[in-house]
Amino acid sequence: MGDEISLPVDKLAAVSLGNDGSSSSTVKKAEFSDRVLIRSILSRPDGGAGLAGEKVRIGGWVKTGREQGKGTFAFLAVNDGSCPANLQVKVDSSVSDLAPLVATGTCVVVDGVLKIPPDGKDTKQKIELSVVEVIHVGTVDPAKYPLPKTKLTLEFLRDYLHLRSRTNSISAVARIRNALAFATHCFFQEHSFLYIHTPIITTSDCEGGGEMFQVTTLINEIERVEKELIENPPPTEADVEAAKLFVKEKGEAVATLKAAKATKQEITASVVLLNKAKETLAMVEERSKLKPGIPKKDGKIDYSRDFFGRQAFLTVSGQLQVETYACALSSVYTFGPTFRAENSHTSRHLAEFWMVEPELAFADLEDDMNCAEAYVKYMCKWLLEKCYDDMELIKNFDKECIDRLKLVASTPFGRVTYTEAIKLLEEAVSKGKEFENKVEWGIDLASEHERYLTEVIFKKPLIVFNYPKGIKAFYMRLNDDKKTVAAMDVLVPKVGELIGGSQREERYDVIKERIEEMGLPLEPYEWYVDLRRYGTVKHSGFGLGFERMILFATGIDNIRDVIPFPRYPGRADL
Ligand code: 4AD
Ligand code: MG
Repeated sequence: MGDEISLPVDKLAAVSLGNDGSSSSTVKKAEFSDRVLIRSILSRPDGGAGLAGEKVRIGGWVKTGREQGKGTFAFLAVNDGSCPANLQVKVDSSVSDLAPLVATGTCVVVDGVLKIPPDGKDTKQKIELSVVEVIHVGTVDPAKYPLPKTKLTLEFLRDYLHLRSRTNSISAVARIRNALAFATHCFFQEHSFLYIHTPIITTSDCEGGGEMFQVTTLINEIERVEKELIENPPPTEADVEAAKLFVKEKGEAVATLKAAKATKQEITASVVLLNKAKETLAMVEERSKLKPGIPKKDGKIDYSRDFFGRQAFLTVSGQLQVETYACALSSVYTFGPTFRAENSHTSRHLAEFWMVEPELAFADLEDDMNCAEAYVKYMCKWLLEKCYDDMELIKNFDKECIDRLKLVASTPFGRVTYTEAIKLLEEAVSKGKEFENKVEWGIDLASEHERYLTEVIFKKPLIVFNYPKGIKAFYMRLNDDKKTVAAMDVLVPKVGELIGGSQREERYDVIKERIEEMGLPLEPYEWYVDLRRYGTVKHSGFGLGFERMILFATGIDNIRDVIPFPRYPGRADL
């Protein structure tokens, strides 16, 4: 290792981060670490050239490495995840053994001096790091490393969830996802919405679709009891009788001693034996009741024996619970994981996905649509302003992604009623367009219909509203025509449905009638109806599928590639 100059950590610290447009001649040290972010070097308007002469410590993973000059030096392209670009790092063989450094996937921490490369004026590489000391090497055996530097498909990478974050594409998606989450909080906070944490474990089915994962400890309990009964067979009736007889005998012994006016000591000793016999009897009786299998009562599973004393599920939506806060704090939102046990193998569905759900009191369907449109536009602008370099990289998957963001950020969304949308689709069919699913008033729009509307007819995002009541959830407000409800879906190119929302039924009598009409039990929704019974108010909200937003923004084809750990039928790795 080189010993020309040692670089004390505090000397590496400097001011101003480069990517804020500054072209200061110093770099900022990473917070809580002794290295600098590669982004702070490369994301400057001058590509880092103004930092020539700076001494820095960087850390990252080698994307590509090659020994050159007959093994006298090596070039490493190092990435630390802070930006899509790699820093070119030059190591001389006098500083370090080069062979362990060059394998793709190797982790390095190095100290060095930033220099303008000999051809720096002409190439993309405006700066490189000339290494003076190698601080750490996390080696890789190239023969075994599953992610060699050849181009790998996103599908292949799904088998390596623990390593795929090291690839350019998945790390760009991670930064975009992070940016959209931050943008979400900024948008709602700027508009005075309060962030509410709704429960993940719930006892009410919001969408009424019966697609819920059950949360139960009954199965663990069954396993435990069955194991216990095999190891230790349950007491027979004769065992219980014997234990009872023993208690009786001990009771009689106490009585006899008392009658004989025995000493206090003798009586006390005998009472202790009686109590022990009673305890044994209780235990024997309890164990004699243990039975293998699910506990049942009146032929049904006895959920009173389950963890929560009732049936519980993973939430499909935080809406019902967040409404309780909207009807007190006015404008609120929840943003969390939601779960659906639908057996969908499509590129648009996950069993675990994240949803952003604002809920606005004193707001009708039109306010709701305006909020949804403003929020989507805000996110598109955010990506254009803050993630342009990642979007450039993502263009490898979809050449049009940047243009699409620009279009969506600047063009008003289309708005049509469901009835008008059906007419447009029928017109298309009459002109020869063929759909797999029949088009007629009353159908639930299929993904092919939604995409045709937004991609072919409108060529931009489209809000469809006032859907037939028969295909929508019980909580949506009944329109005056009594046939439709104040529902709205935002449809976007590439994805189809991005957002589902509605004005909520705030009238006590109507909501009760709707629950009954849909054959739902009233009891679990009593608390929800209470919001209408006491101080009811017009209110509206929507749910945006967060992964669908990332699909839309990036143009990536499969939803399994835009969430770090995808869960879908048959797969829940890590
Ligand atoms: O339309 P959905 O079912 O609406 C609700 O759950 C409402 N309770 C929301 C509300 O009003 N607060 O779901 C909302 C969005 C969909 O538009 C879609 O983008 C996404 O959630 N989504 C899924 N995303 C990934 N995988 C799935 N299985 C999804 N199901 C719905
Ligand atoms: Mg929906």
